[in-house]
Amino acid sequence: MDILETADALGGWVALPAPQLFDVEYWDLEQAKLRRAGQPPVLAGEVALVTGAASGIGKACVEALLKRGAAVVGVDLQPLVDGRWSSDPACFGAQCDITDEAAMRDVLARAVARFGGLDMLVLNAGIFPKSARIDALSTELWQKVMRVNVDANMALMRDAHPLLARSPKGGRVVVIGSKNVPAPGPGAAAYSASKAALTQLARIAALEWGSDRIRVNVIHPNAVFDTGLWTEDVLTPCQSHWVKPAAMSSISISFRKTWRRTKPVSWVRRSPSRVRSSIRKSRR
Ligand SMILES: NC(=O)c1ccc[n+]([C@@H]2O[C@H](COP(=O)([O-])OP(=O)(O)OC[C@H]3O[C@@H](n4cnc5c(N)ncnc54)[C@H](O)[C@@H]3O)[C@@H](O)[C@H]2O)c1
Repeated sequence: MDILETADALGGWVALPAPQLFDVEYWDLEQAKLRRAGQPPVLAGEVALVTGAASGIGKACVEALLKRGAAVVGVDLQPLVDGRWSSDPACFGAQCDITDEAAMRDVLARAVARFGGLDMLVLNAGIFPKSARIDALSTELWQKVMRVNVDANMALMRDAHPLLARSPKGGRVVVIGSKNVPAPGPGAAAYSASKAALTQLARIAALEWGSDRIRVNVIHPNAVFDTGLWTEDVLTPCQSHWVKPAAMSSISISFRKTWRRTKPVSWVRRSPSRVRSSIRKSRR
């Protein structure tokens, strides 16, 4: 009434047309609805691709990303049997060998068709072959490890780059390295050298892609025992080389946020939850 009287005093008033009135009232209702819904999860609206998603650390990454609201593209050599891959609309699973570049490009294309883009890449799939000293290491085994642990990741990074560079919040790459990079063990030449090469690849990517607002972080896990990596073939020779169990429960995490020029390395202690939390931290 005050407004009407004041408007009369000023020479009269004219009502808004009906469509504008509707917009004003409807906007208030929309705002109220949004307020009641609370804050969206931290990764809502973002899309992550995780390699090696069927098992171990990759599977834990998928769970962590989904919990935080991301849509997830999971890739694995093994079938993705978990029910979520067929029932959850936020999940898209592809059984695929990461060394097959054409197939991986097809996965990227299908992921974009399904979710509209790619914001995060978790380069996790990797192999740790049976222990072999250098004097007994076959060229075939060496090349196989390099193909999976290095070559495939380079190709995927290259092919995903145009998508990551278009991520509205800035693309993110998390590379799963290994404690074997700073502290290799005997019998693991191919694995340790492959992870060192992968780490160097990630460091170069951080330097090259900072200007595209893409962050690249490397995590170096150690002794995450509840995964498929620790087969009898791997464990038995390790037991004879490796020393104190206490020393095996640490994970080194190297954060390289080149475009922000922050400190490169920090050491933290233990287990898959730390790996998950480091992925969370890598967003910051
Ligand atoms: N578990 C540990 O203690 C540990 C320590 C250091 C580093 N890592 C690294 O963490 C990563 C995950 O290992 P994890 O321990 O969870 O082992 P895992 O065996 O449980 O998981 C690896 C997954 O990668 C998949 N994979 C392997 N080769 C593939 C290919 N060519 N194409 C598609 N998928 C493929 C496997 O099928 C498997 O599901 C690896 O890169 C590994 O080197 C693990």
